[in-house]
Amino acid sequence: MTPGKKIIELARKTKGYLKRLEEEGVKQIPAAGRTHLEGSPKPMPDGAKGLTPRERLIELKNEVEQCVRCEELAKTRHSVVFGAGHAEAKLCFVGEAPGYDEDQQGLPFVGRAGQLLTKIIESIGLSRKQVFICNVLKCRPPQNRNPLPDEILNCEPYLVKQLEIIKPRVICALGNFAAQTLLKTGKPVSQLRGNFHDYHGIPVMVTFHPAYLLRNPDEKRKVWEDMKRIKSELNRLKP
Ligand code: URA
Repeated sequence: MTPGKKIIELARKTKGYLKRLEEEGVKQIPAAGRTHLEGSPKPMPDGAKGLTPRERLIELKNEVEQCVRCEELAKTRHSVVFGAGHAEAKLCFVGEAPGYDEDQQGLPFVGRAGQLLTKIIESIGLSRKQVFICNVLKCRPPQNRNPLPDEILNCEPYLVKQLEIIKPRVICALGNFAAQTLLKTGKPVSQLRGNFHDYHGIPVMVTFHPAYLLRNPDEKRKVWEDMKRIKSELNRLKP
């Protein structure tokens, strides 16, 4: 067979394979090699199937990318925004839900609020690749409406698994939805920030969401203070 014919044959077979997957309900194929997940080749203890944390996160990412638990979100999303960063990050940031830019790019916090979050992370000498960034909801609510209680319930197990795999030393909850989901409280950020709370033995600092800071720049000082508390806690917990 000539090289040209081989390519045509390969394209035909690939098309048939993708059609079969579509008929079986597969809506997205994870892009190989573009996971935006960092990690070391550290062996895992028994019970983790001998996979590294990064491999376990990739496995979970592939599962979340097929999720149709929330009918409306699964229909309207452009991408599932699993999260990005280091699979053994000492610090995890949890936001609310992807917005337009995040949905388009498949990555968390890449819009205006994300640019501010990058500065917040860098203010304590860390980079986005050293931390892990994710959201309570992995899909964008249409028109950026608030997450619904059922959507949070549907998506929460994924966040729980992410945190189980990463085992961060400190979690930073950005805004009310992240704080209330992790801490099982109805209290607002204004009452929760400034002190550490507990999530299964992991200290949680609650602070204002970067999108709120864009609207209320006078509150930025409080977030810098919360970040300094996080830095001290990370230093205290070293190595
Ligand atoms: N707001 C969030 O809560 N998460 C994002 O990823 C982007 C904006």
